[in-house]
Amino acid sequence: MNDTLRNCIYGKRSSYIPIWFMRQAGRYLPEFREIRKKNPDFIKLCLDPNLVNEITLQPLKRFDIDAAIIFSDILMIPFGLGQQVEFKKGIGPILGNINLDIIIKKDPVDFVQKILPVYKGIEKVKTNLKEKPVIGFVGAPWTLLLYMLNKKSPKNNFNFEEITKDKFLVNRLLKKLEEIICLHIDKQVEAGVDIIQIFDSWAGLLPKKELPNYCYIPILKIVEYIKSKKIPVICFPKGIGKNYLDFCSIVKPDCISIDYEVDPIWIKENIKDIPIQGGLDPKILLGDKQQIKKNTEKYLNIFKDYPYIFNLGHGVLPEIKPETIKYIIQLVRDKK
Ligand code: CP3
Repeated sequence: MNDTLRNCIYGKRSSYIPIWFMRQAGRYLPEFREIRKKNPDFIKLCLDPNLVNEITLQPLKRFDIDAAIIFSDILMIPFGLGQQVEFKKGIGPILGNINLDIIIKKDPVDFVQKILPVYKGIEKVKTNLKEKPVIGFVGAPWTLLLYMLNKKSPKNNFNFEEITKDKFLVNRLLKKLEEIICLHIDKQVEAGVDIIQIFDSWAGLLPKKELPNYCYIPILKIVEYIKSKKIPVICFPKGIGKNYLDFCSIVKPDCISIDYEVDPIWIKENIKDIPIQGGLDPKILLGDKQQIKKNTEKYLNIFKDYPYIFNLGHGVLPEIKPETIKYIIQLVRDKK
């Protein structure tokens, strides 16, 4: 297997810059939309090993990228814990009410049983893709807690105090989530994933003084667990601005994925010993070639002496053209 990406996560530079995209399997690809049309139930789609295999490999058939990321979702954890999860077109995820007793008592064996096809899908991908690493992933405890309690995307009207006012509930849920997240990682590794990425997509909603309790410490426990298994780990605590520095010094992930809001020059000057991934604003990919080139080269130049993995500062948007992804890959490949 090509080890360039894994080496880069561990800080070793190679002759070229490894590249992959968050949401590289998704709605911007007509071949994904084709499958999605025939499968209106998103959770069911994530539980079909043959389709998980096919969708995961779709971007690798089109593009010269350095890894596959398993087609699944961070909300498979609440689903596996017995919470209802639905994806509504144009709205996003909608979750059911939670019964804390059922969730806390959920037997790990039952959790694994409920989402077993996810792991079967990973096994299929590993059988079909020998030459490149496969990335598995989990949502961080805070982001999962937030979806479970808010029951929908917190994009509009979110209030930290309100969501976390029942500290007893919050603490018991966080503890259960840490256990189940580690179990989910374990099973993905057993099925063959080579790298884990932790998505804390809503870390940016936390007040600064709450970051240690809700973001750094719970993720630290998970990162230590992953490191004990000798699997490289990338963390993406989206939206925390200059707190990326505290995050890195406390959590010490093998690699840090940066979002599009944080200044890459500031990152380079302040985060010294951790390989960097990503950063480019996905919205730039909706613009003209000249802007795309200028902004892609900006990141490539800033991190030219660094172990740097090219990626975006968040996922590929459904409106982005596949040709644009091809164009960016070429720009990165042409960079010496
Ligand atoms: O990156 C990949 O290609 C792997 C697959 C992947 C998906 N979701 C597939 C998906 C990954 C890594 C995720 C992670 C995920 N899911 C996150 C963390 C990353 C991030 O985006 O911040 C979050 C917050 C979720 C929860 C989630 N899943 C939301 C909010 C939505 C709706 C998004 C929307 O734009 O409507 C999803 C659905 C989802 N997950 C889709 C895909 C391809 C789109 C589903 C569809 O076809 O309707």
